[in-house]
Formats: sequence, C-alpha cells, structure tokens
Amino acid sequence: MTSLDDGIGRLRNAAGQLAAAAGAMTGAASALAAPITGPWDRLSRAVKSVMPKGLYARSLLIIIVPMVVLQSVVAFLFMERHWNLVTTYLSSAVTQEIATLIDVYKTFPQDADHAQLRRIAQDRLGLVVDFLPATQLPPPGPKPFFSQLDGALSDEIRKQIGLPFWIDTVGRSNIVEIRVKLDDAVMRVFAKRADVYDPNSWIFIVWMVATSLVVLAIAIAFLRNQIRPIVRLADAAEAFGKGREASNFRPRGAREVRRAAAAFLEMKSRIERAIEQRTTMLAGVSHDLRTILTRFKLELALHMGEQPAPTDIAALLEELKLDSERHGHRASVNFHGQPEVTVRPAAFKRCLANLVSNASRFASTVAITGHRDHRWLNVTVDDDGPGIPSQLREDVFKPFLRLDDARNQDQGGTGLGLAIARDIARSHGGEITLGDSPLGGLRATVRVPV
Ligand SMILES: Nc1ncnc2c1ncn2[C@@H]1O[C@H](COP(=O)(O)OP(=O)(O)OP(=O)(O)O)[C@@H](O)[C@H]1O
Ligand SMILES: [Mg+2]
Repeated sequence: MTSLDDGIGRLRNAAGQLAAAAGAMTGAASALAAPITGPWDRLSRAVKSVMPKGLYARSLLIIIVPMVVLQSVVAFLFMERHWNLVTTYLSSAVTQEIATLIDVYKTFPQDADHAQLRRIAQDRLGLVVDFLPATQLPPPGPKPFFSQLDGALSDEIRKQIGLPFWIDTVGRSNIVEIRVKLDDAVMRVFAKRADVYDPNSWIFIVWMVATSLVVLAIAIAFLRNQIRPIVRLADAAEAFGKGREASNFRPRGAREVRRAAAAFLEMKSRIERAIEQRTTMLAGVSHDLRTILTRFKLELALHMGEQPAPTDIAALLEELKLDSERHGHRASVNFHGQPEVTVRPAAFKRCLANLVSNASRFASTVAITGHRDHRWLNVTVDDDGPGIPSQLREDVFKPFLRLDDARNQDQGGTGLGLAIARDIARSHGGEITLGDSPLGGLRATVRVPV
C-alpha cells in the first residue's frame, strides 16, 4: 500500500512544484510585460469572456467567421462594382440621347407643339419629352442618401450638354426627371429608371447564402462526429477518477483522439493491475498478521469489489449518529443539499465509520455534518477530544501508526482506521483532511466528487 501511495505522493509533489515554477515564470513574464501588454491583456480577456467555452462552438466559429467575412467582402465588392457600372452606362446613354434631342431641337425648324420631336423621342428612345415655357428651374432638391445615380447623371449632363439643368432621381420611384434650360424653353424629359437596378443580381446573393448554409450544415454534421469521441474520453476518464466503471468505452474518432483514448485505456489497466497487486499483497500480509482484529479490519477494507450505487448519504450519516449514541456519546447530525450520491455504499460507510469511531474513542461529543453541491460531497466529523497536533496530521494516516499509546494504555486500536478511510476516499476520487474543530478537538473532512 505504502509504495504505491508514496509513488503517487511523489508524483503529486512533482506536479505541484512544476505548477509553482510555471506560476512563478508566468508571474515574472507578466510583471515584465505588464506596461506594454496592458490594453492587449484587457482586450484578450474581453475576447475570451465572450468566446464560447466548448470545443464544438469554437470550431464552428473558426469555420463560420472567415466564411462570413469572405463572402461579405466579395458580395460588397461585386454589388458595388456592378451597380456602379450599370449606373454609369445608363447615365451616359440617357444623356447622349437628350443631347441628340437638343441638337435636333436647335438645328431643325420645329412644327407646332414639337410633335415630331416628341414622337421620335417616345418611339425610338423611350423618353417622354415636352417643352415648358422658359421660366426659372426649380431649386435643387435634397440629395438622396444613395446619390450614386444622381451624381453620375449630373456629371454626364454637365460634361455632354453643359447647360443649366435640374434633376430629380428620387421623386417618383421608377422614373427619373431631367429638366434642361434652353435659350427659349425648358426641356423636360422623363426617363425610366428600371435599368439601373438589375433585379437578377440578387440571384448572386441568394446563391451565396444558400451555399454557405450547405457548407455550414456539412460542417456541423462532421464536427459533431469529431467531438463526440473527445467527450466520451473525458466522461470515461472522469468516471474512472471517481472509481466508477465507464461502460463500453472504446477508442473512436480521429487518429489523435484514438491515440489519447488508447493511452488512457492502457493507463487505466496499469493502475488497475497495480491496485490488484496491492490488494493481493495486503491480503497476504493480513493473513500473516495473526491478530484477529487486524485481519478482520483489513478484510473489511479489501472487500471492495463492490459496485457504486446511488446512496442516500443523509440516511447513512443518521445511522452513524445512532451507532455513536448507542455507545453513550452525545452525537448530532446535519445535512444540506441533495442527499443522493453515487458511491460504493459499504466502503463509504466504513470510511465515515472509522472517523466517527475515532471521534467516539477520544471525545464525548461528536458532530457530523454533510454538505453537497453540484460538484462535491463534503462530510465533516467534529469532536471535542484532544485533537492531533498539526505536524502529526499526515503521519496518522500511515498504517499501524497510533498516537494514543501514551494517552490511552488500555484501549488501543490497530492504527489502520485512518489509512483505510483515506484509501476508500481516494478510490472515490476524493480525499480526507484533518484540521481543528470548532468543538476544540479534531475535525476530519471527507470530500468526494459527486
Ligand atoms: N478524533 C481523534 N482525536 C484524537 N486523536 C485521534 C483521533 N483520530 C485519530 N487519532 C489519532 O490517530 C491515530 C490513528 O488513528 P487510526 O484510526 O488510524 O487508528 P486507531 O484508531 O488507533 O486504530 P483503529 O482505527 O484501527 O482501531 C490514533 O491512534 C490516534 O492517536
Ligand atoms: Mg480508528
């Protein structure tokens, strides 16, 4: 038992030192870099706080964000160029036609009401033209927000015709009105605006969104399959840590994940072999130790082929309290939280019973409290006895170590109670610690993950 425990202890120490060293290094690094990276630190912390925590959501983001950015840029550039081009062409063509009409108006004598000119404009160019008396042009209207057409048309008229003009590109939705001041009249032209916005260009956007949705659906399906094996591995490792069996866990998924899973299974079987060997050895030792009591106790402790099962911890603590009262002690019990926790019931009861029997042996008052939250079950056993000096609190866990030789000659134990209790707690993925009790004696705390 001790060699394995020592090994684990040494490993823990090494890990602790490593963590401390790493902590010191990052501390030093951040102290050095603090004045420069201050805002960056804050920014990266802010980004981290809004980033999703799960691998699934993160990988989806890695796919979605570049896709959306790329497509938005492409769509924007395409649309912008496309509409620019169409608008320029339309403005230039319409202006050319109006310029031609003005030339005809100026060069050739006109019939009354300009009927011929208006007919040609209407039939050949699709422009509705009429001539108003030579009054002032209306004041320029407000510039529309998207003044692309407005600007392009104004430029063209200024360039090609060079006469005072007035345009309205927003007044009526599908018609553009242009007025040009001639020497003896104002020429008013209505042109269709429909060609400016090519309705077919929306197809481009629709296709783009549709293909992104398809890509997204494929990504979701694939990612889900990639991440499931990682979650299974985490579950299996967690179950093993709590001393439970991960039912039908097999390496699956991508090569690296399968490797991690295989390594985990390998490690698990090695640990199980080591425990098995330790158990056999202890059974042998217990056989050779002639004391009936010792053998009895060890056998109890080693009978842990027991399966974990949901157990009512509050009821279990109540039983311990009654036992203690039956032996003439003042005992109290208190439980907070949901009492059902999955443990090996007999082993876990043995663990707590060892603590309560110690308290009962060295004190007259025993207080048992249980507290369970979403991660841990904590059970404390307090007494009003002499306690254990803090420098001896690790030593008393060693098998066969007893401090009470001097205190209590007549009723000595075997010195195995705490060792067995700690072994059981650790086999549930938990730990036992000793401290000072508010009652004046020893406080033993058992903490296991739920
Ligand atoms: N509640 C306590 N108050 C004071 N001393 C304690 C208390 N619990 C344990 N100890 C000390 O720690 C030693 C180790 O305890 P442990 O339970 O392992 O052995 P034990 O009680 O002596 O024997 P066993 O439990 O096998 O009958 C005890 O001998 C005792 O000196
Ligand atoms: Mg004991």
